[in-house]
Amino acid sequence: MIEKKFISGFSKLTKDLKLSFIAAQMPNGEHIISELKSFWHQDASVQKMFDEFSENTLTNYFFPYGVAPNVMINGNIMMVPMVIEESSVIAAAANSAKYWAEKGGFHSEILSTVKNGQVHFIWKGEFGRLKELFPQLKDQLLQRTFPITANMQKRGGGVLDMELIDMTSKLQDYYQLSVKFDTRDSMGANFINSCLEEYASGLRAFVNDSGLFEGEPLQVIMSILSNYTPECTVRTWVECDVKDFADIDDSLTAEDFVWKFEKAVQIARVDVHRAATHNKGIFNGVDAVTLATGNDFRAIEACGHAWAARDGQYRSLTEIKVEGGRFHYSLTLPIAIGTVGGLTSLHPMARFSLHLLGNPSAPELMQIASVIGLANNFGAIKSLTTKGIQIGHMKMHLLNILNMFNAGESEKLLAVEYFKHHKVSHNAVAGFLSSIRNGHVKN
Ligand code: MEV
Repeated sequence: MIEKKFISGFSKLTKDLKLSFIAAQMPNGEHIISELKSFWHQDASVQKMFDEFSENTLTNYFFPYGVAPNVMINGNIMMVPMVIEESSVIAAAANSAKYWAEKGGFHSEILSTVKNGQVHFIWKGEFGRLKELFPQLKDQLLQRTFPITANMQKRGGGVLDMELIDMTSKLQDYYQLSVKFDTRDSMGANFINSCLEEYASGLRAFVNDSGLFEGEPLQVIMSILSNYTPECTVRTWVECDVKDFADIDDSLTAEDFVWKFEKAVQIARVDVHRAATHNKGIFNGVDAVTLATGNDFRAIEACGHAWAARDGQYRSLTEIKVEGGRFHYSLTLPIAIGTVGGLTSLHPMARFSLHLLGNPSAPELMQIASVIGLANNFGAIKSLTTKGIQIGHMKMHLLNILNMFNAGESEKLLAVEYFKHHKVSHNAVAGFLSSIRNGHVKN
């Protein structure tokens, strides 16, 4: 580990000075500067915009941007953009998409699109009286946010509901003002937080300065949207006859495959170790679409995991039903995603992704992201219950291993051919390269 000097005011330095400060403390500093600069965008104005997305930007960090073609959603074929570094994820989504497109595709419906946020406060006052006066308080609060909500209302959204919640059974003197919002096609974080901060001021004034209440002042602890949005939910599913799986694997009948698949999903419902991995596979797809469209994948993951634990145990997010010879596999997931605002229109690749998807509404993008989540999960469970995950995974990872060994293009071609029939591993690739580099041809 190379220890770095303490510095205050780093963010105030120009980008060049930041780079020099870092380079000066690292061996081969000049090379580091030119390497970091080599990832700058060639158009200085685009680079400046990237710099301004965040603080202390030095350069850009590339991830592959790919697409899963043949994604059929409610009868429409789409090409879905995905940003992800894990080599097998887009391949798995694309394979599943093609597989299901031939069986009627994915089906998806929006269950609800309501978001929420809370003003969390501590108060020793008379809650019954505050509840009695709440209609008056609510009117005042709503009026305070008219300037903020007017535009959203024009678009058909705004504040849907507001209630006072007694939380004192969980924490002494703790209450919430809990508010529901419709943020239309925007993710809505800034809108919700601005409203909540205004409500917090109004609530404080109503209780502490109006003379209506006596005793210790109400203390607002924080005002913030909740990333747990159980009322912003999409349900996505695939279905077919069990017998349609006849060709899924050489070693399994359709019934055996479905039996194993069902057991795999049931295991993920009862065992947290498996559930976390099962759900991670779903978020491989959901996050990749979220990133490609300039959305906040941390918010969407946090929500998904909270939802997975909604009955007190963390469980798989998918559900399976096999009945009367039919296979039905579904994913129900809250996804608070936006197609306007935030980075969606600023980031050129996010803009392109939305364009590629035909400029969907936020609910349509919820459907697309959840479809890719289910596609990735189906691909994972199918591999796990048949050939195992490593064959496909290592095949996709082969090029990474070859790149680690600085393989040339002709070596790569030979390796890809050779490993069509041999098991990929780090050692096997090293052995293969050393034998061809020593003039031996491998078959
Ligand atoms: C790997 O990124 C994802 C899987 O582990 C998901 C799963 O096990 O279901 C393959």
